[in-house]
Amino acid sequence: MTDTQVVAEWYNQNAVLEHNRLNAGPLEFSISLRVIDQCLEQLRRRTDQPLRILDLGGGTGRYAVELARQGHSVTLTDISRSELQLAKSFAAESGVTLDAIVEADARAIRVYPKERNLQTVFTASTYDLILCQGPMYHLLEESERIHVLCACASMLRANGILAVAFVTQYAHLRDIAQRDPARLATEFDDFYREYLSSGRYTRNPAVPSYHTNVEDVRRLFRKVDRLLRSQDRVGLALSRIVPCEGFLGGGLAGKLGDLPPDVYERWVDVVMQFVEDEALLGNADHWLTIAERRD
Ligand SMILES: C[S@@+](CC[C@H](N)C(=O)[O-])C[C@H]1O[C@@H](n2cnc3c(N)ncnc32)[C@H](O)[C@@H]1O
Repeated sequence: MTDTQVVAEWYNQNAVLEHNRLNAGPLEFSISLRVIDQCLEQLRRRTDQPLRILDLGGGTGRYAVELARQGHSVTLTDISRSELQLAKSFAAESGVTLDAIVEADARAIRVYPKERNLQTVFTASTYDLILCQGPMYHLLEESERIHVLCACASMLRANGILAVAFVTQYAHLRDIAQRDPARLATEFDDFYREYLSSGRYTRNPAVPSYHTNVEDVRRLFRKVDRLLRSQDRVGLALSRIVPCEGFLGGGLAGKLGDLPPDVYERWVDVVMQFVEDEALLGNADHWLTIAERRD
């Protein structure tokens, strides 16, 4: 089982760093936001009502605040108290109000029926869109990842959309190939054999992490879909795996953040043009997977 308190402590210690991370490397944020906008557009075609969004593991609120600025009702939850404190001031500085800001471990979520009128944000069939861009980076056991995805599916309204982010194993392998290439062989028996098969990155005890690959992501969603259909007669269909850095993973987009906004946006347009190219999945460090609830 993942020691999620260790994960919470890591983010409590690194809250400011984490808030600034997307400023330093903005491509992951820009591409994810464009994909989220496409999801919102798809949802808007189905309803005139304001859309309800849950940002699970939303950290210091970069996405939540942006989406609230666009007029959506957004609930932010995270396991890190310090990040949520930053999120509160970030929302206030940005002049937006979030529906709720709640400290919670995604792994321990229990979903309640809406009718019961309880004081919880975790209620069934409530949200049009759920973002889960963080918990999957740190849940070591498949059963924990399945629990979170099933909980998300049941909190979605019919035909609601779930956007789940993953870190790829390719990102870590690319990183050590550049910084410490001998490590793969010297630590193969003690560490990398197991890492390659399980995705558990436990080499840094300060923050247990999980990295994945295409086949494991597809298998995970298939398992969740099967489980949901056998229990609740709803399904969760994986529709896209988007490479968040497109063809510019592994730090190749580092200089884009220094460009004037219009020149930068031209790069984002071009990266977006190719994000459906499956051959690019191996180039990206992060993926945003899109799945839809099917009733
Ligand atoms: C890399 S940050 C990403 C934050 C934000 N979603 C984004 O994409 O910029 C990972 C986030 O997931 C949160 N997190 C990790 N494990 C979690 C868990 N079990 N439950 C809730 N949040 C978790 C962390 O506290 C952190 O805020």
